[in-house]
Amino acid sequence: MKNIVVLVSGGGTNLQALIDAEKRGDIKNGKITCVISSKADAYALERAKNAGIDSVVLERKAYADSKAYSEAILAELQKQNAELVVLAGFMTILDECVTKAYPYRIINVHPALIPSFCGEGFYGLKVHKAALDYGVKISGATVHFVNEKADAGAIILQGTVDVQNGDTPETLQRRIMENVEWKLLPKAVSLFCEDRITIRGGKAYIE
Ligand code: GAR
Repeated sequence: MKNIVVLVSGGGTNLQALIDAEKRGDIKNGKITCVISSKADAYALERAKNAGIDSVVLERKAYADSKAYSEAILAELQKQNAELVVLAGFMTILDECVTKAYPYRIINVHPALIPSFCGEGFYGLKVHKAALDYGVKISGATVHFVNEKADAGAIILQGTVDVQNGDTPETLQRRIMENVEWKLLPKAVSLFCEDRITIRGGKAYIE
């Protein structure tokens, strides 16, 4: 059974999708043992509590810079014996001290079709606003491994939705969460825990 630690910053609907999937038995060979939040008032912490999962708050604003914050996150991940780290709406970019310690063992969900609308500055509703401003007709979400470049690690799964006339960042976000993120993030986590993701030439293959 692999030990999963989930990092959150906000509402935690993706954390909830993971908790529900685990309850249904859809996370094969994995168990969420700890939730780490970068914000003390994140609703995701309530979700962890309701599910009986331990949580730790490490506030980004309590640290001088990204490196100091990342070192604190790394120390906590090691203390928790994390075997898989899941970024589920975690809004801070982690320094390479973390990504190098967990190569191909950190999974992120990004609310767009990478390589579009991604990288530094693209997070949350900003991503959907950028997609709508561009005028794309499809968007979606990407589940990928995290490396030292923002949103640039190997892609594990992607899924799409249609953009509709009159969409707002909020309506598009909701459609992408419901149809893609809440399904594909638990699926990718299970595939990882079942050792079904292979890396060849820097790309991820499901086998
Ligand atoms: C999700 O849409 C997630 O993909 C996005 O933030 C939202 C968090 O919602 N993540 C990013 O933008 C990271 N770059 P949640 O807290 O309800 O899971």
